Amino acid sequence: MRQIHICEVGPRDGLQNAHQLMPTEKKKAWIKAISETGVEEIEVGSFVPPKLIPAMADTADIVAYSLTLKNIKTVALAPNVKGFERAVAAGAQKITFPVSASRQHSLANVRMEPEQMVEQVRKCVELRGKIGPEIEAGVSTAFGCTMQGEVPEDDVVKLAVMLAEAGVDCVALADTVGYANPAQIRRVFRRVKAEIGDKLEAAHLHNTRGLGLANALAAYEEGVRHFDSSMGGLGGCPFAPGASGNVITEDLVFMFESMGVPTGIDFGKLLEARKLMVASIPDEPVYGHMALAGLPKGFRAAA
Ligand code: COA
Ligand code: ZN
Repeated sequence: MRQIHICEVGPRDGLQNAHQLMPTEKKKAWIKAISETGVEEIEVGSFVPPKLIPAMADTADIVAYSLTLKNIKTVALAPNVKGFERAVAAGAQKITFPVSASRQHSLANVRMEPEQMVEQVRKCVELRGKIGPEIEAGVSTAFGCTMQGEVPEDDVVKLAVMLAEAGVDCVALADTVGYANPAQIRRVFRRVKAEIGDKLEAAHLHNTRGLGLANALAAYEEGVRHFDSSMGGLGGCPFAPGASGNVITEDLVFMFESMGVPTGIDFGKLLEARKLMVASIPDEPVYGHMALAGLPKGFRAAA
């Protein structure tokens, strides 16, 4: 049984920041290939104004397609009530909201103060009733912000508590611009967990300064079992200057599997899906040590 739950965010976090558009049919083929790797969740897109992020204009179509695939939870991002309604209409099974702890990033990203974003999330929790999709709030820039600089830990804790009280199912902490270090990860996850308990679920980490895996391990040691990551290390927020790719799925899976911690993910299939992605956006830089170096001789995946 898997002990680590990975949400592949490449189709959303990755493609929103890519220079190249991935055609809808290729996106579908890539998502199908991801669904065959054993990954549990795929964040397939976002319901934002298409003018703002043209790469996400086909998200409703992509969600509908993703729902036809087996063994996968279809996740989409929404930045407000309107995005939530579009996501629900499309059938998304889990909807995630970016709620920045940095006031400046919040204004740049969603044109709202963090408190206004919490109100949007609260309205969506009320709207979804009892049988609607799962709702996650991701606390963005939880470890620092390229615009504001330091983000006080107290602000992160306070925001996480407000979101839990607003009724979300789970909260993630996101290192949107790759500022975090392992000591900080341990401290902030521990503080938030002390306040909201098991509602604290995922770590959404970026590898901008090369600490993605170290941070993931620190989060694991604090009890985190849900991770967002992106194939080939694509990713970044277009409204956070200096943001770059997520922690790399292939390397994250290798780290846990080699530690004997099962992820449920098949390496061969992961590399096939990566090849498909690279072929679909050939000019986009991709990253990943595992894909380059290959598995060590005699490597055995976790049982
Ligand atoms: N999807 C589609 N259209 C939307 C929308 C949504 N989620 N939210 C608003 N709109 C439309 C409105 O209907 C309105 O249309 P109109 O001009 O035809 O009347 C227009 O967009 C402006 O609406 P408004 O509510 O004033 O939005 P805004 O311009 O203040 O933008 C957000 C606010 C939240 C929609 C925008 O900043 C956003 O999408 N941010 C997310 C960015 C992102 O994806 N970042 C990366 C992920 S973290
Ligand atoms: Zn991100």
